[in-house]
Amino acid sequence: MCGIVAYVGHRQAYPIIIKGLKRLEYRGYDSAGIALLNGDLSVYKKKGKVSDLEDSLDPKDLESTIGIGHTRWATHGEPNDLNAHPHYSSNGQLAIIHNGIIENYIALKKELESRGHVFKSQTDSEVFINFIEQIFTDLNCDLEEAVRIALQKVVGAYAIVILDKNAPNQLIAARKGSPMVLGIGDNEFLIASDATPIIEYTKKVVYINDYEIVSIKDGELSIKNINAETTQPYIQELDLRLDAIEKGGFEHFMLKEIFEQPRSIADCLRGRMNAQTGHLVLGGLIEYNNKVMNANRFLFVACGTSWHAALVAEYIFEELTRVPAEVEYASEFRYRNPIVHEGDVIFAISQSGETADTLAAIELAKSKGAMIYGVCNVVGSSIARASHAGSYTHAGPEIGVASTKAFTAQVTVLTMMALLIAEKKGTITAQRFHQLITELENIPAKVERALKSNDYIAELASEYVDSTNALYLGRGVNFPVALEGALKLKEISYIHAEGYPAAEMKHGPIALIDENMPVIFIATRDSGYEKIVSNIQEVKARKGKVIAIVTEGDTLIPTMADHIIEVPDTDELLSPLLNVIPLQLFSYHVAVLRGCNVDQPRNLAKSVTVE
Ligand code: AGP
Ligand code: GLU
Repeated sequence: MCGIVAYVGHRQAYPIIIKGLKRLEYRGYDSAGIALLNGDLSVYKKKGKVSDLEDSLDPKDLESTIGIGHTRWATHGEPNDLNAHPHYSSNGQLAIIHNGIIENYIALKKELESRGHVFKSQTDSEVFINFIEQIFTDLNCDLEEAVRIALQKVVGAYAIVILDKNAPNQLIAARKGSPMVLGIGDNEFLIASDATPIIEYTKKVVYINDYEIVSIKDGELSIKNINAETTQPYIQELDLRLDAIEKGGFEHFMLKEIFEQPRSIADCLRGRMNAQTGHLVLGGLIEYNNKVMNANRFLFVACGTSWHAALVAEYIFEELTRVPAEVEYASEFRYRNPIVHEGDVIFAISQSGETADTLAAIELAKSKGAMIYGVCNVVGSSIARASHAGSYTHAGPEIGVASTKAFTAQVTVLTMMALLIAEKKGTITAQRFHQLITELENIPAKVERALKSNDYIAELASEYVDSTNALYLGRGVNFPVALEGALKLKEISYIHAEGYPAAEMKHGPIALIDENMPVIFIATRDSGYEKIVSNIQEVKARKGKVIAIVTEGDTLIPTMADHIIEVPDTDELLSPLLNVIPLQLFSYHVAVLRGCNVDQPRNLAKSVTVE
């Protein structure tokens, strides 16, 4: 969960690396550093953001055509200058950048200290490079071989790139469990955690697999596995556009991504569903159609916002397919010795496709014979490749740490999945099927209409900017939306917020209600409407401040709520796709008014690739 960038070629390395690190900063940003080789192997690193590192450097001192860079999210050792990457090996000949976590670093450190190594930092990564140096020295072999031998002994996750002072045109890289993409340009190579630092220079990429070692020497590329067997690089053409990773005139990536949702949902539907013809096909299902159609149970594993999307899916899947559905936190599932049967189909939901807990959960389920269906946003990501089948959400790069368009894209894919299964199993009528795919096709335009409340919500946010707590309440398929709204508010504005099933209020949380407690109700017209109206009255009777998300034209709730935000009417099962929009906007504007770093909230990272 950090960002790595490396370059070797005919251009100046520093500008490419520093720009690449800025593109990856959403992955982790407590400290940053670069190493450049030009006769000397020079490391420049410091606590803080990439821009702080940049401000401390003078580009004219940084002439080099080869270098490595890192933006950190600490796992071992507090964020400070010493623990920032790159790390030298003891003899100063090697420098490493590392994304991941070495779990057996303490044992390795003890062994290396007994061999005279003195460590400057508290990190596992510095141990890693000294372990490699020791093998390199003991065996007097080439660096690639020393790395290969070391990788057989370390336990954990890594994406590493190493520079050797004595090999001015060489990069050695390797990955296991942390992402790595290799870009192949004209007489130049780039290596990065994802494609965003690469796209500007080449569209030819190789997604490096676990246990592969990349060696670039004097312009020659070779890829071997941990058993020293050469593997042929599978070169793919990136379909990423540069403007997709820029802010496009918005103040923050998060706002841009909120406003992209009409398009990202349309992109998710494109080529898969056509209401006019009744066409609905998900490519990932074709090979495993029988497994899915005959599943005894659907089990969803995910984390964070993706877990909320899974909860929405649970309601939709059970309602439409009549097959039992369960949702698990991936981090809990992987450690509780779960009961998994061969007849289970596991859906792994992940925007980044790199969340360590989710990856581990599906490996466990796979080992118990279950079929894994991945729903990811990042093409070529680890979870996508660890799944038997899957569907990409095609939401485009999501840079803001707070997930928005990925959530609605995940819900869209999962809704199509449930519809497709239900239609084939005959658990819904042809009329209901057609009604839902027709309405699903209308959702992008309705999201566009929901976004028109943005200015009103920005004003409303100013009334709640000093809140210390908030409650989000919803029922049925909108209970997970209440959880998602609460998560959005707390993760970017740092206001404590909780989501609850609205009916649950009277079992405790209602004790929290007073005139200082904003209560956000999802109160659109659906099967639970009358009950929600009663819940609103219960809160008002205790002087709570009520913000209600209501269906356009509602005349009852405006007579009781303090504020209302209207969304277009839609089918109850599809309402999460609209009801979440005002909640995303509300959290965004409150956070901006509180001066929070909306795109890179404190303590967080975009992809939690360590457990
Ligand atoms: C959501 O806004 C957070 N950024 C976080 O909860 C995120 O959803 C979670 O870490 C899962 O990430 P993934 O979808 O990439 O697996
Ligand atoms: N485990 C390493 C450290 O704490 C790397 C963390 C990261 O991936 O940023 O420095």
